[in-house]
Amino acid sequence: MGFLEEIERRRTFGIVSHPDAGKTTLTEKLLLFGGAIQEAGAVKSNKIKKSATSDFMEIEKQRGISVATSVMGFEYRQKKINILDTPGHKDFAEDTFRTLTAVDSAIVVIDNAKGVETQTEKLVEVCQMRATPMLVFVNKMDRDGKDGFDLLDELEQKLGMKVCPLSWPIGMGPDFQGVYSLYEKKLVLFSPHGKQADDDIVEITDINSDLLEKNIGERAAESLREDLEMLTEVYPELNLEDYRTGKVNPVFFGSAINNFGVRELLDCFVDIAPNPRPRETEERTIDPTEEKFTGFVFKIHANIDPRHRDRIAFVRVCSGKFLRNTNYLHVRQERKLKFSNPTSFMASKKSVLEEAFPGDIVGLYDSGNFVIGDTLTEGEVLHFKGIPSFSPEQFRLIINTDPMKSKQLNKGLTQLMDEGVAQLFTKEMDGHKIIGTVGALQFEVIQYRLKHEYGASCAYDMVSLHKACWVSCEDRDALAAFRKRRNRDMAVDTQGRLVFLAESAWVLKTVQENFPDVQFHFTSEFN
Ligand code: G4P
Repeated sequence: MGFLEEIERRRTFGIVSHPDAGKTTLTEKLLLFGGAIQEAGAVKSNKIKKSATSDFMEIEKQRGISVATSVMGFEYRQKKINILDTPGHKDFAEDTFRTLTAVDSAIVVIDNAKGVETQTEKLVEVCQMRATPMLVFVNKMDRDGKDGFDLLDELEQKLGMKVCPLSWPIGMGPDFQGVYSLYEKKLVLFSPHGKQADDDIVEITDINSDLLEKNIGERAAESLREDLEMLTEVYPELNLEDYRTGKVNPVFFGSAINNFGVRELLDCFVDIAPNPRPRETEERTIDPTEEKFTGFVFKIHANIDPRHRDRIAFVRVCSGKFLRNTNYLHVRQERKLKFSNPTSFMASKKSVLEEAFPGDIVGLYDSGNFVIGDTLTEGEVLHFKGIPSFSPEQFRLIINTDPMKSKQLNKGLTQLMDEGVAQLFTKEMDGHKIIGTVGALQFEVIQYRLKHEYGASCAYDMVSLHKACWVSCEDRDALAAFRKRRNRDMAVDTQGRLVFLAESAWVLKTVQENFPDVQFHFTSEFN
């Protein structure tokens, strides 16, 4: 198969949802269709249960599971599909944001009873920021939930989507009879527990045909016809370009646990979802069809066995062909590296790969060379955009409780920060180290991992901070004046960038007013 065909057949995407909407269940059913797993239950839920805040074994287990399910690749209808797993727990939201930088599209799962939930809002916002194409799967139709039209309204109002329903439910809960696929013009009849047979599918191109009555009864047929009439009046027909540029979001209804509506979703997905798209770097746009390899690190996973300190850096191939045992430029370190055991992921199986194409994810064993956002190329100096750190919201001052182990503590902290577990700010005035995170769980993870993997121990002191913002200013004198005046609030991040630690929203507002030439940024990427 030629290089261009390989790119054309790749579909790299992520499934996002609020916890419990059915992401794990849907992932599993998709893998079953792809033959990547043989039985239900093979994909372990990667969520940390609510009670696990202090259950570290649960966190460790979670890390073990999530390395195995980080990328799940499989083949379906001659397409190579890569599902990138995203943690559902809100404290790991930043991990999810970063993983979404490596996808070409997303599937959003919604619980039909709960509708749009908080985590869904945040994740969809991240996708919209990057114009990532999204399909919506409304799940759990076998249970009573909200009315279909109300759900569509909610998607439009709460998520700012413009929806385009491609399947429509016939009843719900105990009265759920199936869906009418507007995409394939067929009726798909529901039989619980995934025992869908060929005669459950009835081609009905003309919805006035009496086949409808024969299959779902008079009342349901009548109401389906009314619904469909309303749908065609209110919602647009699918326009591929609008979907692929993130302007329109096709919606499907089904029940993942019953394996219902999943095949329709997958079949449409492989037809319409985009293959690898061009990506922006600070220097220029990279087209996937370019001959030379480029890629970036979007995730780093530490080995859960502390005796083997190596980590896996996950690289998204953006252009060209990645080859094993070939020298590539590590742009930040300005040196060549080659990889003898690059890994590919096919569901939970790992194997050494010889080559990888745009859209693929390559796992590289790393002994500490990579940080998130690093670029690999064949020699060109490039920096991929869109992998920012977000301004953290929770802060703790680190106290070394075992001064004999300072070296271990520093090493551990550096490596955990490279992995993107949290952000570390060093205060300019006194060298104090402050950890900033998006969620509180990370503080416990850090303490636990420092002890178990690095033999270092630390305690935390509360610091009352509102936000950490990256600072920039074109006028050097104005910047110097600002730094001098706010000396005790200045810090640097692990990459030496200047950060202002704002005590309160009021302080932040005041400095913004008093120093109009200085810019305050809420993500680390502001060029
Ligand atoms: P998540 O990854 O998004 O967090 O959700 P997950 O797939 O783990 O699903 C959350 C719960 O919803 C699970 O039940 C799952 O069985 C159930 N579920 C998923 N899809 C459907 C569906 O189509 N219909 C119905 N009725 N339920 C569905 P649980 O009780 O939390 O876990 P389990 O004991 O079943 O594993």
